[in-house]
Amino acid sequence: FAQNGAGVTIRDTSGPVISRNIYGHFSEDLGRCIYDGFWTGDHIRMDVVEALKKIRVPVLRWPGGCFADMYHWRDAIGPRDQRKHTVNTTWGMVSEDNSFGTHEFLQLCDLLGCQPYIAGNVGSGTPAEMADWLEYLNYGGKSTLADLRRQNGRDQPWDVSFWGVGNESWGCGGGMTPEYYAGEYNRYSEFCRNYPGSQLKLIASGANSDDYNWTETVMKNINRGHTWGISMHYYTLAGSWEHKGSATQFNEDLYFRAMAACLRMETIVSRHSAIMDKYDPRKRMALVVDEWGIWTDAEPGTNPAFLYQQNSLRDALIAGTTLNIFNNHADRVKMANLAQTVNVLQSLVLTEKDKMVLTPTYYVFDLYKIHQDARSLPIHLWSPDYVHGGEKIPAVNASASKDSSGTVHVSFVNLDPAKKINVRVNLPGIAFKTVEGQVLTSAKFTDVNTFDDPNRVKPAVFNGAKKEGADLVVELPAMSVVVLELK
Ligand code: AHR
Repeated sequence: FAQNGAGVTIRDTSGPVISRNIYGHFSEDLGRCIYDGFWTGDHIRMDVVEALKKIRVPVLRWPGGCFADMYHWRDAIGPRDQRKHTVNTTWGMVSEDNSFGTHEFLQLCDLLGCQPYIAGNVGSGTPAEMADWLEYLNYGGKSTLADLRRQNGRDQPWDVSFWGVGNESWGCGGGMTPEYYAGEYNRYSEFCRNYPGSQLKLIASGANSDDYNWTETVMKNINRGHTWGISMHYYTLAGSWEHKGSATQFNEDLYFRAMAACLRMETIVSRHSAIMDKYDPRKRMALVVDEWGIWTDAEPGTNPAFLYQQNSLRDALIAGTTLNIFNNHADRVKMANLAQTVNVLQSLVLTEKDKMVLTPTYYVFDLYKIHQDARSLPIHLWSPDYVHGGEKIPAVNASASKDSSGTVHVSFVNLDPAKKINVRVNLPGIAFKTVEGQVLTSAKFTDVNTFDDPNRVKPAVFNGAKKEGADLVVELPAMSVVVLELK
């Protein structure tokens, strides 16, 4: 097209639906995510709820994470002043008053208008404890547990559907081999019953990033007929697990390394999907990426076990890129949950006393919500490289969808921090008259929103796209996320 330009072809053959649940979130009982994030004193923070409603959060995962395999649901029901005081031995040895439990989580989901996704305890629980929790949640008839739920203020069952059978069972969830876990999964899931009116969607605990043997062994040995999906966790690191690097103070080396690490999601998802294809060629089961996002060092001066990190333009580019990858794998990735919503890891929202700030990542979810439940459009992309330190990665990535009204949306990310990139988009079979868009960028990739400067990184109207004949021509600013609407 032009020197250093990118070329894209988007065809009007309808691909799989991009499940809204790809835009899901994860909120663990960890640090200040629940307590001091969603929950303060004795109530849910409505400013946080209102902000998250705007981006149409479709599903929220809880109570962990690693915490899930130490969680005993009975500790956190009934009158709050009579609940057990426990110790969060997973995250910082802090005392828990359990004022946020099953009822509060499900009330939060009601307020958000989203589906709950509960991770059950396999590592230190029992099949009976899990089965009892499901009866408490989902049984509408008369039983001691259903009556206890009523006594605690909830008459109707909740019909919780998404149900994780353990978390990271290869590590903090019990240190199991895949063979052993598959047996445990079959045992626990056998007692996860569908009460009248409810239909469980069971999710097996999945692999750590590129542990393909885990997926192979679990897929081979579990009762697949019982199972809705298998999970997978992959975190983007700019450095190593020991030295992850700062969320705000980083140079171009660390920026580049984070972007290269983020792009690995494409290979990881493709290879897990290929293994699943062997056992499930009709793609009945979902790959559930129920933990993803950038993990940096905790902010200086905060409890390192609380995993509190700031969120920069770099993180927004990671979110845009990862969501493009998921959209392009919508045939297999049917749910994903960014870690972790408020005050933990790659958050959407940060809070400080009664103040709240929306992060650059929040705005990506706002811009991309137009893809939720739209049909993906197959996309072919040629991108120039972003070269740094003798290494290279594709500078541009994208995904496209068509919604039920026929409107086409295209989301682009330009990872190059210094170069704007011209893109010519060829759209055979797609007629459009107008193009409008929004852009998220900033002067520096380290730019963040703070409580004193909350609007530094925010979407703006984008005027860099125009129709040229039947094509679309776009000038992507350096380090930007651009979302276009074609009508
Ligand atoms: O998201 C933080 C932790 O990362 C989760 O608790 C665990 O599942 C993963 O290792």
